[in-house]
Amino acid sequence: MESSLKKQLSNVVLITGCSKGIGYALSLYYLQNGYTVCGISRTKPDIEHPSFYWQYCDLTQHDAVLCAVSELYDRVKGASLELLFLNAGTFGDAPKKAHTVDLMQFNNVFAINALAVKSTLDALLHIDWRPKIALASASISSIRPRAGMLSYAVSKAALNSIVKIYQLENPDIFFLSLGLCNVKTSIYHAITDGVSSELPELFALKKRAQEPGYVISAKQRAEDMAKIVERLDELQLEKGNFYEIRTLLKTMNLASA
Ligand SMILES: NC(=O)c1ccc[n+]([C@@H]2O[C@H](COP(=O)([O-])OP(=O)(O)OC[C@H]3O[C@@H](n4cnc5c(N)ncnc54)[C@H](OP(=O)(O)O)[C@@H]3O)[C@@H](O)[C@H]2O)c1
Repeated sequence: MESSLKKQLSNVVLITGCSKGIGYALSLYYLQNGYTVCGISRTKPDIEHPSFYWQYCDLTQHDAVLCAVSELYDRVKGASLELLFLNAGTFGDAPKKAHTVDLMQFNNVFAINALAVKSTLDALLHIDWRPKIALASASISSIRPRAGMLSYAVSKAALNSIVKIYQLENPDIFFLSLGLCNVKTSIYHAITDGVSSELPELFALKKRAQEPGYVISAKQRAEDMAKIVERLDELQLEKGNFYEIRTLLKTMNLASA
């Protein structure tokens, strides 16, 4: 009985930030495709599915993360972890010039976008629940920062380094920082709403975003991410590196880039 339950649970995906946006869409995608999905967030997502296991956790609380991850591990009876989406994140306050950014909000953004990734990985490695593939929801701002994006860009640059170092130290896991590019979620609105011509690059981005097809849905992006996972071997990527999803989709000749 125990072993047949374990077999049913074998395709396990763990998604942080599953309550809305890209994490929510990923949760639905993997549930619809027969996976067991473990999700972590502070708000309970409106997902009722026998293969969905949700756990409350504020991922910025380092000690709580080990408890949350261990709880999920127990609930899926220690079934092997195929995929990890290090996805939870925030933009923080609306874009503003760096010298006006409040240190507290800078720290809060850094805590979820970077430190929480370390906490999640540390918890998983501590209980030896090692994912085969770990994808971090990264941003082009990590390597090409724009004026007005101090907290976000710095935290996402740190995320890339964290991912790279865990890759070097854990070669059995395939890590990737995946720049997700213009997905219509609350983070996207936080970046573009209220941007004035005082921040010309972001203002131009906001204007481009009005063109049809420039900003895509979370559902579409989740499907794109899943396609990349499926075809990871043929893409021949450097493990632990940053890639923009649009570039990878173009390489694979997929349209939604
Ligand atoms: N949207 C884009 O254009 C874009 C582009 C590049 C990269 N990304 C990245 O993609 C990821 C997902 O973003 P999104 O656009 O889907 O944003 P979103 O709709 O705002 O979703 C963010 C998710 O993170 C969770 N989260 C935030 N703080 C948390 C905390 N302290 N503890 C636990 N969970 C927390 C939220 O859940 P709760 O609030 O319920 O806790 C929510 O489920 C982020 O890392 C973002 O930086 C997005």
